[in-house]
Amino acid sequence: MEELFRIENVCMAFGKKEVLKNINLGIKRGEIFAIIGPSGAGKTTLLRILNLFEKPLCGTLIFNGISLDAGKTGDLKRRMSLLFQTPSVFNGSVFDNVAYGLKVRGFDKRAIEKKVGEALDTVGLPGMGKEKASMLSGGEAQRMAFARAIVYEPEILLLDEPTSNLDPANVANIEEIIKRIRDERGTTILIATHNIPQVRRIADRVGVLLNGELIEVNSKEGIFTAPKDERSVAFIRGEMIY
Ligand SMILES: Nc1ncnc2c1ncn2[C@@H]1O[C@H](COP(=O)(O)OP(=O)(O)O)[C@@H](O)[C@H]1O
Ligand SMILES: [Mg+2]
Repeated sequence: MEELFRIENVCMAFGKKEVLKNINLGIKRGEIFAIIGPSGAGKTTLLRILNLFEKPLCGTLIFNGISLDAGKTGDLKRRMSLLFQTPSVFNGSVFDNVAYGLKVRGFDKRAIEKKVGEALDTVGLPGMGKEKASMLSGGEAQRMAFARAIVYEPEILLLDEPTSNLDPANVANIEEIIKRIRDERGTTILIATHNIPQVRRIADRVGVLLNGELIEVNSKEGIFTAPKDERSVAFIRGEMIY
């Protein structure tokens, strides 16, 4: 599989605290890659750097073969989308919420209607455009946030613990949506999670982040049957305190 996003020697610190240490990772086009690790491991920091919200202290990001140091990050930003744990809901209708990114990008009315409709179908909210966004349940609001994140067809979707505030039925629903987005749209997905069963259900490959260090990258089968690092074993078995 072709590589979409390459992370080379990335490090980050806040003050004196080292948060990411020499991260090297290649994300393949069309895969679902899970970053797992306890709270405070550096998962969110890594996603924020990949989404260009934050500049790393050292290292290089290479997107589609183009080094992000070379500038033009404005254009590249449009090809990624980051979704948080808690969905942000703007005032107005579901349609307005989902259409926002397209309006900003100057799409015409007909294109916006078509793309919003398709995104709402993908996330299982068909025909919900006219509803008031503030009236949605927690699970529906997160699905709407997914629609907003995919509506402009990003090449990569970065998900930061997208199901940690949801009940089991909604977790299963969001996991289906994640798989559908990859299968139907070919979107590459990078998901930070500390939900091990979720990794089993949806990931193709896994990276284990511990104290800012990427201690192991493995296939899903590999991480569960033949992990390379003792500390991965402890985390996966739930023996790690966090
Ligand atoms: N803006 C910030 N300023 C100072 N410290 C931060 C900041 N953001 C994150 N950290 C620290 O960096 C470490 C990693 O945090 P984070 O990336 O949020 O981990 P995770 O998402 O895996 O829980 C934590 O120790 C956290 O307190
Ligand atoms: Mg986090």
